[in-house]
Amino acid sequence: MADTDIKKGLAGVVADVTAISKVNPDTNSLLYRGYPVQELAATQPFDAVAYLLWHGELPTDEQLAAQRAEGRQYRALAPEVKTAIDQLPLDCHPMDELRTAVSAIGAIDLAGKGSVLDAVGTVEENRARSLHLFAALPSIVAYGQRRRQHLEPIAPREELDYSSNFLWMTFGEEPDPVVVDAFNRSMILYAEHSFNASTFTARVITSTLSDLYSAVVGAIGALKGPLHGGANEAVLHIFDEIGSADNVVPWLDDALASKRKIMGFGHRVYKRGDSRVPTMKAALDTLIDFYDRPDVLDLYSTLEAEFVGRKGIYPNLDYPSGPAYNLMGFDTLTFTPLFVAARITGWTAHILEQQASNALIRPLSAYDGPDERHINGYRPDT
Ligand code: SDX
Repeated sequence: MADTDIKKGLAGVVADVTAISKVNPDTNSLLYRGYPVQELAATQPFDAVAYLLWHGELPTDEQLAAQRAEGRQYRALAPEVKTAIDQLPLDCHPMDELRTAVSAIGAIDLAGKGSVLDAVGTVEENRARSLHLFAALPSIVAYGQRRRQHLEPIAPREELDYSSNFLWMTFGEEPDPVVVDAFNRSMILYAEHSFNASTFTARVITSTLSDLYSAVVGAIGALKGPLHGGANEAVLHIFDEIGSADNVVPWLDDALASKRKIMGFGHRVYKRGDSRVPTMKAALDTLIDFYDRPDVLDLYSTLEAEFVGRKGIYPNLDYPSGPAYNLMGFDTLTFTPLFVAARITGWTAHILEQQASNALIRPLSAYDGPDERHINGYRPDT
């Protein structure tokens, strides 16, 4: 096979069609079911965007109320999930906790439900499972952070919306509307992004007719990587290393000399900036004002200007979201789990879409190993 046929990392390869989102690097735009993500982030509660991704239309008030009523049963931390998490070491990575929790939920839901031939489930079963995970993840992520801080889980409050309740269960304080709005915007921006590595992982697993939970566990594993979702955590590690704006230049000299990837910058699809960054940066700016932290803006802007100036590589969504979550009070290790709590909507929308028009995903490989050879003295049985 000619080398030119090989697209390492599947870069530039169109693997399938999707109606869920359109990422357009030429216009630097992102549409969720046709709506610009900026409009959704400015006007919708996150759970309405979840409905849009799953069903293709924004919900009526009645449809949103029905979704909220159905999701309410899953909001509290389930005892079996708490048990599954509690048997893990306190210092295991929260993405491993999350992977374990989703696996436990899936194993329990699928118990006694037949053989692998029944694994894939019906569309209605998988819509219900999608809502279950969407509604359950906030309590799991919140408990993970509180457990590492030796704090008890906090029960959900029925009267609070998705974002307010997430913040309540994490911090146990009445969240300020400024913080709720910034958090809600971040979840909508993180929700969906076509065939990114973790979503494509979920589609590959679904294409074998495996179950939704297995596909989500695989996607969590893919998202953990610092080249993908783990970058938002890594951005804060970099900020902590640099310390303050006046240390950016020497730090960057050093980092680039040792060929380090600067986390939060660059993108496989966007090459002139990530369409979501301006909206997330505006949310970060409101938090910087709210918490009176001009030092954060100083460091953020100095590193961005310096790196873009030198390499012409622009920030991606993880760059503004890392400091934003830090200002909200989330532990750095909680950042990528927040990405999971948002992206569960995109992943499950793609799982449903793959299921609806499935073909086993199995690309080819070119071989460059040894030519055929044989074992000395081996004589095949005649
Ligand atoms: C997400 O796909 C999605 O949609 C993902 C995502 C989503 O919503 O699902 O948007 C979320 O994952 C965003 C990306 C988060 N990752 C990071 O911030 C990690 C740092 N970024 C890089 O590792 C990199 O930019 C990638 C992996 C994101 C994209 O890389 P590509 O497209 O594979 O390009 P590349 O790595 O081949 O880079 C091309 C050149 C290389 O230089 P050379 O080796 O050719 O000399 O640019 C350099 C790279 O070294 N480069 C960087 C860099 N990004 C690219 N150099 C330093 N720091 C960087 N961040």
